[in-house]
Amino acid sequence: MNRTPRMDSMRKRVKNTARKRPAKSSSKKARIQSPGAISPDVKSQLRKLTGALLSAQESGNREVARALHDVFSQELAALGMEISCLKEKLETGGPIAEGLSELGRRIERLSAEVHSASRTLHPAVLEELGLEAALWDECDSFQQRSGISTQFIPLNVPAPLPGEVALCLYRVAQESLRNVHMHSQSPHVKVRLEGSRRGVSLRIEDAGDGFDLDAALRKSGVGLISMEERVRLAKGELTIHSTPGEGTVVTACIPLGKKPAVTKPT
Ligand SMILES: Nc1ncnc2c1ncn2[C@@H]1O[C@H](COP(=O)(O)OP(=O)(O)OP(=O)(O)O)[C@@H](O)[C@H]1O
Ligand SMILES: [Mg+2]
Repeated sequence: MNRTPRMDSMRKRVKNTARKRPAKSSSKKARIQSPGAISPDVKSQLRKLTGALLSAQESGNREVARALHDVFSQELAALGMEISCLKEKLETGGPIAEGLSELGRRIERLSAEVHSASRTLHPAVLEELGLEAALWDECDSFQQRSGISTQFIPLNVPAPLPGEVALCLYRVAQESLRNVHMHSQSPHVKVRLEGSRRGVSLRIEDAGDGFDLDAALRKSGVGLISMEERVRLAKGELTIHSTPGEGTVVTACIPLGKKPAVTKPT
């Protein structure tokens, strides 16, 4: 299996359904056929709407991430310091000092959680240091929280990348890694980010259970579809190659040079 997730597999399923049951319609068939049945005007409006929704989602994420980082994270750090100061004024070993130590540890854990939630929503490092640095960070923290050995290989990555291209590839990496963790049972994953004359590509490869794309698209998840939509909006192409029992490779290729259609979140 090697194709873009939605369009090609939908086309294939339309063909299969038509061959087996030409006259019968089902809710599945109606859903599959609808993209072909709608007019180009409606299709283009739907695409604009999808772009606007993704952009609105990103700017909402960014606001919440900033609030988490600037307000909660800073405040928790200040609380932690006050607790340390109080502890220093007390005799060591007493119940109050022990209570304060425990409180300090809880605040540290809470601070790490808030930091991680903020980074998941919108990583500041993506804007400050670029995609390569953000993916080093992401792979590192993915390995820690999932226990899956994660290798990141950057090769000739152009810098700086347009913000919308970096964000798109970052989201593809996040969703693919989430899928590896949730569904693959793979003990390791390889993330490769590579620049070439044609553009930039991101490849996430696991050695897990693999899956059947047609069956996966019949499920209620939106991860694969939204990855494809993001990449399409950036004028790129998403390919999924998966064989049950042999693992999965997700590749997103985005050409550079043309201005991508995704609007930068404000
Ligand atoms: N790397 C993978 N290995 C094995 N199965 C996968 C992998 N990636 C996706 N799948 C299969 O494809 C299905 C659809 O994935 P998708 O990301 O669209 O949805 P989801 O992960 O189930 O839910 P969501 O992403 O909306 O939280 C998954 O439920 C899973 O069965
Ligand atoms: Mg998913």
